[in-house]
Amino acid sequence: MYKTEQHQVSEAARRNTHLDADGYERLYRQSIEQPDTFWAEQANRFVEWMQPWSKVQESNMARGEAAWFIDGKLNVSANCIDRHLAKRGDQTAIIWEGDDPGQDRRISYRELHEQVCRLANVLKARGVKKGDRVCLYMPMIPEAAFAMLACARIGAVHSVVFGGFSPDALRDRILNADCRVVITADEGVRGGKNVALKKNVEKALNDCPDVHTVVTVKRTGADIAWHEHRDVWYHEACAAVSADCEPEPMDSEDPLFILYTSGSTGKPKGVLHTTGGYLLSAALTHHYVFDYHDGEVYWCTADVGWVTGHSYIVYGPLCNGATTLMFEGVPTYPDASRCWQVIDKHQVNVFYTAPTAIRALMALGNEPVKSSSRASLRLLGSVGEPINPEAWEWYYHVVGDSRCPVVDTWWQTETGSIMIAPLPGATNLKPGSATRPFFGVEPALFDNDGNEVHGVGDGNLVIKRSWPSQIRTVYGDHQRLIDTYFSTYKGVYFTGDGARRDEDGYYWITGRVDDVLNISGHRIGTAEVESALVLHDAVAEAAVVGCPHDIKGQAIYAYVMPMRGVTPSDELLVELKAYVSEQVGAFARPDFIQWTPGLPKTRSGKIMRRILRKIACDELDTLGDTSTLADPAVVEELIEHRLNRA
Ligand code: PRX
Repeated sequence: MYKTEQHQVSEAARRNTHLDADGYERLYRQSIEQPDTFWAEQANRFVEWMQPWSKVQESNMARGEAAWFIDGKLNVSANCIDRHLAKRGDQTAIIWEGDDPGQDRRISYRELHEQVCRLANVLKARGVKKGDRVCLYMPMIPEAAFAMLACARIGAVHSVVFGGFSPDALRDRILNADCRVVITADEGVRGGKNVALKKNVEKALNDCPDVHTVVTVKRTGADIAWHEHRDVWYHEACAAVSADCEPEPMDSEDPLFILYTSGSTGKPKGVLHTTGGYLLSAALTHHYVFDYHDGEVYWCTADVGWVTGHSYIVYGPLCNGATTLMFEGVPTYPDASRCWQVIDKHQVNVFYTAPTAIRALMALGNEPVKSSSRASLRLLGSVGEPINPEAWEWYYHVVGDSRCPVVDTWWQTETGSIMIAPLPGATNLKPGSATRPFFGVEPALFDNDGNEVHGVGDGNLVIKRSWPSQIRTVYGDHQRLIDTYFSTYKGVYFTGDGARRDEDGYYWITGRVDDVLNISGHRIGTAEVESALVLHDAVAEAAVVGCPHDIKGQAIYAYVMPMRGVTPSDELLVELKAYVSEQVGAFARPDFIQWTPGLPKTRSGKIMRRILRKIACDELDTLGDTSTLADPAVVEELIEHRLNRA
């Protein structure tokens, strides 16, 4: 089932890379055998410290505790901006490409400094202090990066909420982190459509009485509601303050940001990352995995609302003094050649995107790709979900003209930075495999009984030792961190993913082993969709599972039991789908909703998800044992009316 054919590191790829195969082996060995020496060297090379650390690290994996570069002091915004000013003040830090191909903007490091200082002063003037949480609900405009860096400059903790989330989801996140300030835009623009961000903020804030300030960027000039004392225009406020703001010296373990992510149970968790270790890992991986060289143009297509945008649009690239491209739009607007046009227009060297985008573009044929030159491209990256070998081959041969290595990078919101990935020039590639661990990362596989799997085999993927950008806590609930990640297997971090290790020690990620779905690279818990469905008056009970989808990777399949007296209808189906979009966000909208008079349950009342998954995937041959069910007839009924047939 797995292709074992290797793509040898080509001569072209090997030339000028930071490392070759021996270099990787040597550094990896050092990172495992002499971790303190390795990390001390890297921390001095990639990060500028205001005060040196007294100890490299201290961790207790059983309790989920980690501290890196203890007593060290630094400021992330100073590392991403100020220290580059002398050498590259005039170099472009951010290239912004608007949704409309006629709109773009280049921001130099000097301009970035001014913008970030001004906004930092605005935040200060509105009473924001070190440790305060600030919510960002932004479109993909440079001000989103300015806002993240402005928070970092004064020691405020940002919580970016993806602009595709609903007002309710935004409200929950504002309340959970107790944010008192929100930064947003009047509207976002994506694929030729406007997104009413400020309107969503208004709705969310009906239930957030403690928010005293909303800073709004004028993106489209749309009519918006305005509250005299609470609302300030971004441009007016920034014009009224000084363009200088001293960076706050932060402890290496002071929080940098909170980012909410879905788990298998309950509400999304606020993943908390700290300062020193996070910044170092983001910068180090950006340097080695993308083999970034000075002067190159680097483009990551993620949204800043997800961790990929945090680490690989903003913090990693800017810490390394790179030119990072930020794209407001979508890959298919105005047409399917957009990404390739942008690559030619801005002479992009490194392109990093998600398999779902690759599959969507692949489905539209080679023509839109071939209409561009892509001669500037040197490296391609993939992230967010397993990449199927067909999509990998298309990416490599058609987009990269069989000349650019593809780095398939496995990591998570919780890991903060790339954990398993090939290094260009050093690692032979196998389509569909994230290949080998990054420096300092010690992965392992465990079976369901808690035994480690050695050598070739399948298992649950864990990480055995602390790494610098490790999640520090679940905001406000450290016990939840321990229960979710550090309790399944004692003393190691459990990723929630399954993986296989082959004869070369390469890892093949097989997907989540818990109740987390990955829809177009967006993580969503089945429990979140179920809670949204049962909130509707017509729904008595709901169970949600994932099934394969050609483009999105996974689709959402919901089984819904109507309330007594409710007659299922097509109109109600449409309403339920829209209801989930409203509750959570459009990406959580179920693809299939099957009405059912009941759900298959064990005699003790537990829903048999395994069976629901098999029916949704149309895998009836492997349904397994249904004899323990309270009412086996339910299964017959579900099979008869299943929606996703081959
Ligand atoms: O299942 C894995 C999948 O995405 C999950 C993490 O999602 P999130 O925290 O939203 O972060 C996404 C961007 C880092 C993982 O548990 N995943 C991520 N990258 C890969 C992947 N699955 C397979 N291959 C990858 N390269």
